Amino acid sequence: MEIVIRQTPSDVSSTVADIVEGYVRRGPTTLGLATGSSPLGSYRELARRHRESGLDFSDARAFLLDEYVGLPKTHDQSYFSVIRSEFVDHVNLDTDRVLSPNGESPDIAEEGARYDAAIADAGGVDVQLLGIGTDGHIGFNEPGSALTSRTRVKTLTEQTRLDNARFFDSVDDVPHHVLTQGLGTISEARHLVMIAFGKGKAEAIAAAAEGPLSAFCPASVMQLHRHVTVVIDEAAASKLQLADYYRYALEHKPSWQSF
Ligand code: F6R
Repeated sequence: MEIVIRQTPSDVSSTVADIVEGYVRRGPTTLGLATGSSPLGSYRELARRHRESGLDFSDARAFLLDEYVGLPKTHDQSYFSVIRSEFVDHVNLDTDRVLSPNGESPDIAEEGARYDAAIADAGGVDVQLLGIGTDGHIGFNEPGSALTSRTRVKTLTEQTRLDNARFFDSVDDVPHHVLTQGLGTISEARHLVMIAFGKGKAEAIAAAAEGPLSAFCPASVMQLHRHVTVVIDEAAASKLQLADYYRYALEHKPSWQSF
């Protein structure tokens, strides 16, 4: 796991955009997209590079991490809508090639397996962007999620519903259930890129990167993955015990080595 500590949130977004740009410029890429606030700066930066330097997403496709159960696709806070308004509408990524779990499926118990099969049929995800919840969730794998889990319905914790209430009129409007890629599904992506900002994420980042591998902190599953880049600002790094080493390693990163 490589931990990249950047001075400011905008430095973080630009490093993440560099990583994604590298894939997209190399050829057809399957992106794994997260919603929530953490990737927004990176999406804006990628859209700017599309506009100003012709970064071309026409050969890319994308899979979302998760979706609320029971929220119509057309709702402005469904992740289907959010990823379009925040990213897809601003680049030349074909909207039909941006897939998300169907939270309105009449057969919700089977939707997870169908979604995992669609990811596998596409050849898997090349680069997966991830945010992290204050409780250590990735996707919406709340604490206690099996480290090998597949895409399925999960119940949000009250804390996550409160954290997400800022996107809705009131916490009562935040659905209780989500369809989320499982920790096993996420781990199959070839490169995981975690993004976090602010003091509020510092404990979760420290637990994920330096704590025990445990379902208690679902993001700790990244410790088993062979290619992880954690890109965070100083505040989110403030509880890392080895922060000085991560800075030192970055300073001495061999010039031939990319993220
Ligand atoms: C969203 C998702 C969640 C968020 C996490 C952090 O697709 O998968 O895991 O990444 O809840 O949310 P923000 O970035 O809003 O702090």
